[in-house]
Amino acid sequence: MDFRKIALEKDRHDDLKNFKSKFLNNSNEIYLDGNSLGKLPLKSIENLNEVINKQWGQNLIRSWNDTWLKMSEKINLKMSKLINSDNDEVLVGESTSVNLYKILYSLLKSNQFKKNLVTDNLNFPSDIYIIEGLKEYTEKNEITIIDYESNLSCDINILKKTIQENPGIYCLSLVTYKSSFLYPIKELNEFAERNKSIIVWDCSHAIGVIDIDVKASKTKAAIGCTYKFLNGGPGSPSFLYVSKDILNHMQNPIKGWFGHSKPFNFENKYKPADNINKFNAGTPSVLSLIPVNTGLDIVLEAGIKNIRNKSIELGEYLIKIINNELYKFDVKIASPIESSSRGSHITIQHKEAWRICKLLVKGGQKRKKIIPDFRPENNIRLGFSPLYVSFIDLYETIQTIKDILENKEYLKIDESKSEVT
Ligand SMILES: Cc1ncc(COP(=O)(O)O)c(C=O)c1O
Repeated sequence: MDFRKIALEKDRHDDLKNFKSKFLNNSNEIYLDGNSLGKLPLKSIENLNEVINKQWGQNLIRSWNDTWLKMSEKINLKMSKLINSDNDEVLVGESTSVNLYKILYSLLKSNQFKKNLVTDNLNFPSDIYIIEGLKEYTEKNEITIIDYESNLSCDINILKKTIQENPGIYCLSLVTYKSSFLYPIKELNEFAERNKSIIVWDCSHAIGVIDIDVKASKTKAAIGCTYKFLNGGPGSPSFLYVSKDILNHMQNPIKGWFGHSKPFNFENKYKPADNINKFNAGTPSVLSLIPVNTGLDIVLEAGIKNIRNKSIELGEYLIKIINNELYKFDVKIASPIESSSRGSHITIQHKEAWRICKLLVKGGQKRKKIIPDFRPENNIRLGFSPLYVSFIDLYETIQTIKDILENKEYLKIDESKSEVT
């Protein structure tokens, strides 16, 4: 099979191919880490310059009323469009970790669910730390971490059995960070509801690349970061979604003035807003929100279904080429093979993963720099953000890895793991 020819053909027919020009690109680099930190949209440079020079630099405090307060609302509205929620069910602000804390604490205090906190061994460490930190508010002063045999994919039967036997408040990553496993969200939400439980979904690896529909999937609560497939920039604020069905029972543990029903009345007594705004705490981070607005505009323009379709095609192509070119070198695919169970990165494993990553990042005279990421112990994550990754990028990546393995180039690289790619 001529994989190069197939890649070129697929790129020619790619409806999203023009979106790459909306980002700052380096022609000598293939960026496969958009699942960690998305690229910089050119429009964000322009928008940030405008905000810094004009709105902050010249208009100063007046900009709150002129633009900044309204900007927050606009961003919330765009986010709600992206996940198909009502527009008063979403906020964008603060980190994913903080928003997760707010939702879980609030659910524990809501008396709507048994005070059991459960996650699994596929979840992102920060989520596990947050959950662990809340154990004093649970019924038995302990949390449950479901340990599937593998840390790469969920055993749905074990998960369901746990929900039946230990109903309560669950937190799962919709797409897992290590292997890109994608949970059947609707099936699990319905199962949880039948068993008096709720699942809070961490959508960090899904938002902007998976067509999340909170209404169709009956999702009640979710959070997720905006710096991966939404290209909001390093540390950009996360989103928080709470369905109206449960909002009335929930209170923000952080009672800051932006969660007050009338923040600008400056009353000494805290009275929470009676809508999603009660989950606000402090002043919006204007500079960090600007690129989120741009990132959302680009994703909404491309269409989340088109993005997901291209992501599936890229994934299927990548799996085929890995199977064909790399299996003989003991490279294993650690991600689900079935597209409906996979997000937008594919993890491959090799005992020399660390040194292979170092060589990819280094590039060479006849070789582009390729930026994947390494995750211990031996995982290389190849993230393909459909807005700027092409089929030929994936072809070149696999050919480069093949060259490295064929020539045992990794033997020339120091084994010490002092840096993270
Ligand atoms: C799945 C997942 N959850 C949570 C986090 C933590 O997000 P934050 O740093 O915004 O708190 C990350 C960060 O990469 C993540 O990938």
